[in-house]
Amino acid sequence: MGRSGILPILYLLVAIAVGCDGAADSRTEYFEVGKDVHLSCNNVTWTDALYYIWKINITGVQCLISDGPSKPNYNNCTGGKVLHNTTRGESYLHIPSFTLRDEGMYTCETAYRGGAYKAIITVVTVVFPDLTIRQENGGGQRFVVCSAAGGKPKPTLSWEKTWDSPEITEKSTTNAKGTITMESWLPMPKNASSDNVTCVASHPVWIHKKNITMLFTNQTLQADINSDVANAATSVAVLLIVVLVALLSYATHKHRSKLGVLVGHCCQSAVPSSTESKEDQEVEEVEPYESYVQRVNSIYNSSADLFGV
Ligand SMILES: *[C@@H]1O[C@H](CO)[C@@H](O)[C@H](O)[C@H]1NC(C)=O
Ligand SMILES: *[C@@H]1O[C@H](CO)[C@@H](O)[C@H](O)[C@H]1NC(C)=O
Ligand SMILES: *[C@@H]1O[C@H](CO)[C@@H](O)[C@H](O)[C@H]1NC(C)=O
Ligand SMILES: *[C@@H]1O[C@H](CO)[C@@H](O)[C@H](O)[C@H]1NC(C)=O
Ligand SMILES: *[C@@H]1O[C@H](CO)[C@@H](O)[C@H](O)[C@H]1NC(C)=O
Ligand SMILES: *[C@@H]1O[C@H](CO)[C@@H](O)[C@H](O)[C@H]1NC(C)=O
Ligand SMILES: *[C@@H]1O[C@H](CO)[C@@H](O)[C@H](O)[C@H]1NC(C)=O
Ligand SMILES: *[C@@H]1O[C@H](CO)[C@@H](O)[C@H](O)[C@H]1NC(C)=O
Repeated sequence: MGRSGILPILYLLVAIAVGCDGAADSRTEYFEVGKDVHLSCNNVTWTDALYYIWKINITGVQCLISDGPSKPNYNNCTGGKVLHNTTRGESYLHIPSFTLRDEGMYTCETAYRGGAYKAIITVVTVVFPDLTIRQENGGGQRFVVCSAAGGKPKPTLSWEKTWDSPEITEKSTTNAKGTITMESWLPMPKNASSDNVTCVASHPVWIHKKNITMLFTNQTLQADINSDVANAATSVAVLLIVVLVALLSYATHKHRSKLGVLVGHCCQSAVPSSTESKEDQEVEEVEPYESYVQRVNSIYNSSADLFGV
């Protein structure tokens, strides 16, 4: 009588002690969109359990799932959330095809012979960002810009390059869906030599890091400098044409009769020749850009293939 009578009372006391304490484990778990989720409370099996309760709070809307030898089966949650058993008989919450709408606070409580357990699990979505790399010009400075678009949680961006670069700047924006777009701006030194510049996106919850590489050869670097020069030259040429045309039209209107011959001369010689040189510069500008885009695409494809993303 003694042993078999005392043990259940001891279990109950432990259960009450744990319950009164109100102590709950807190943890955060990350899941990928589209994957089936297996969320464990603890490893108590049906044979030992009294009940399992899940209280799920998704953006303020509560739902409840309960089951167990001493509790009726109840479930008013949406999205196909159900309790399953593992082969060892441990209960867990199953969410089929996880979506952003399953993100929330999941509180589980288990009472079992031997105690009680409570955990508050913050369920967060993992969304891998789209990684791209490009070049930008701003304020006389050239940048390599790495963009990790629409990721969650916010990734960390880092660079692998041999240039000694001044300050790298980062920008992050939160998107409507709660994902984050991160950009890292790497200034290119004027004397940059040929290099493969790699941007690495990582987060502790990701199994793999993601990276993307932009190749700078001496040719592309030189082409960039040429296009800068061409841009400047084009601006000056355009400005000169505008000023010239303005002056000419002014002159034509004011002194149509007197300067008629002179204007005709000017228009035939000066204007067409400026247009020609402008066209040449435009061709120069376009070529390096094309060759640079092709390189990036081929590298991006191969790194995307490696990751299978
Ligand atoms: C259940 O988990 C606890 C700690 O998490 C561990 O000590 C125990 O061995 C586990 N029991 C089984 C049956 O896996
Ligand atoms: C449910 O979560 C919201 C935040 O999403 C919070 O404001 C609210 O207090 C929570 N409700 C309960 C009962 O925990
Ligand atoms: C589910 O049931 C619980 C307990 O009865 C209730 O508090 C909750 O509001 C219900 N949620 C929904 C979405 O019906
Ligand atoms: C889990 O196993 C117990 C005992 O074998 C059973 O009564 C219960 O229905 C099972 N639950 C599910 C969701 O299969
Ligand atoms: C580029 O210039 C910076 C200073 O402007 C200098 O520190 C660096 O060593 C130079 N790098 C090369 C490869 O010449
Ligand atoms: C850049 O990477 C390519 C292969 O992708 C390699 O052939 C080349 O040597 C690398 N260049 C530098 C400067 O690291
Ligand atoms: C980029 O990813 C590829 C494929 O996983 C890997 O082999 C390579 O080492 C990575 N490069 C860097 C610089 O992290
Ligand atoms: C690129 O140019 C730098 C100096 O401008 C030189 O040191 C380097 O060897 C060149 N690299 C290649 C691959 O030609």
